[in-house]
Amino acid sequence: MSNYSSYQIMMRKIADIQYASAVLNWDQESYMPPKGATFRAQQLSTLAGIGHELATSKELGELLNKLSEDTSLSEKEKRNISQSLKSFNDNKKYSTEFVQLLSKTISETFQAWQKAKADNNFALYAPHLEKLVKLKREECKLLGDFVHPYDALLNQYEPGSKTADLEVLFTDVREQLVAFVKKIAEKPQNEDAFMYLYYDKQQQWDFGLDLLKQMGYDFESGRQDESSHPFTTNFSPEDVRVTTRINVNDINEMIWSCIHEGGHALYEQGLPSEEYGLPSSEYVSLGIHESQSRLWENNVGRSLLYWKANYPKLKNAFPENLKSVSVEDFYKAMNIVKPSLIRTSADELTYHFHVLIRFEIEKALIEGLLEVNELPAYWNQKYKEYLGIEVPNDASGVLQDIHWSHGSFGYFPTYSLGSFYAAQFFVQAKIEINGLEAEIEKGNMKPLLDWLREKVHRHGKYYSAEELCIAISGEKLNFKYFMDYATKKYSKLYDL
Ligand code: CO
Repeated sequence: MSNYSSYQIMMRKIADIQYASAVLNWDQESYMPPKGATFRAQQLSTLAGIGHELATSKELGELLNKLSEDTSLSEKEKRNISQSLKSFNDNKKYSTEFVQLLSKTISETFQAWQKAKADNNFALYAPHLEKLVKLKREECKLLGDFVHPYDALLNQYEPGSKTADLEVLFTDVREQLVAFVKKIAEKPQNEDAFMYLYYDKQQQWDFGLDLLKQMGYDFESGRQDESSHPFTTNFSPEDVRVTTRINVNDINEMIWSCIHEGGHALYEQGLPSEEYGLPSSEYVSLGIHESQSRLWENNVGRSLLYWKANYPKLKNAFPENLKSVSVEDFYKAMNIVKPSLIRTSADELTYHFHVLIRFEIEKALIEGLLEVNELPAYWNQKYKEYLGIEVPNDASGVLQDIHWSHGSFGYFPTYSLGSFYAAQFFVQAKIEINGLEAEIEKGNMKPLLDWLREKVHRHGKYYSAEELCIAISGEKLNFKYFMDYATKKYSKLYDL
């Protein structure tokens, strides 16, 4: 057997373990009864241990080193090897003691966060988070070789990204988007009370399934369930599951979670299954993943054309609620821009201020310029500064997100990157796909999905995020595309 075949076999085994864990995680979030939690945690931890052993084994290391000098490999094989070798070397930087300590600290911090959020008591969380931040600072040191310590964490989610580049990007957000949102705020607000009438749960569910089908989500390779926080998970490109959340008093939650998670799922369903377990069947980065969900959610789903295709169906399902609401009224309501407290329900413009705030805070935490006990005051001050709102309590302030309690520092910026990539890619899609907007208006999403398959999905991780962006649009990520999209759309909506 060739070395490359042995490598493939080892990688598939590691993937089997990881995806088996993913099934257990999915079940935990959707169907597991409450008493299942204790043994489930143990099962997950056992599998994580086996996965780590396989991923750092001497055998795999030797094989990767041999293969990295093999000039007979194809370009794609060479890329797989260099990416696998990089992950292998990164994994080796963690001692078992460090991994265990981190995992234990995360469990404790997560539990403390849940309680602190429920009780609106930051003090319950602070000592645990302090420990975790310390470990994260250590982690940056042991990963080493980065210009900025925060780069090490960013790279776990967005390989190749740099703090310095994000600073430039967020300076644009600060200077251009903040000013634009201020102009919107001076205008009269649009009406959206009809979004919050009673919407029957089963009818919502059926409508959401229709939207997914229309996007091209393959129900033979996936299914939708309910969960308190919508997410997408996959066990292979042939089993990609989404969850949604339905609020009978707010039609928005179902619509945006179905389209958003649907966009993530189409990416996973489009990855090459014959490359299972190898980097060439993995997503590029979280920013690129988010570009797929945001492109469908914002550029497609929040457009008037999309609702020209879909509003008649919605109106048919809820004739009482929507009888005097035109498609234009509905379009205006779904695009209301208004500073708010909670990131996950923010509109597509002010959303980026929530990310900007978290980016500034976590960077300062990692640099050691900010300490955990200063967090609530600093958070509230930033919300006043960027969003102009007073934070009434920590539960709806600094305690709102799960990420830090999970040890995920460097994750938030990928949300903004996703929207900005999406705007840039969508401009290119409109240039390259004949009559794209007319097709969307007819409810035909196939040309767009085919284009995304061709440009993004089928490549797996072959390109870096930057290379992919250049291959698609001819240039690196440029905030101008998002700002142009926002200016054009919202100037019309708010008569600026
Ligand atoms: Co997402």
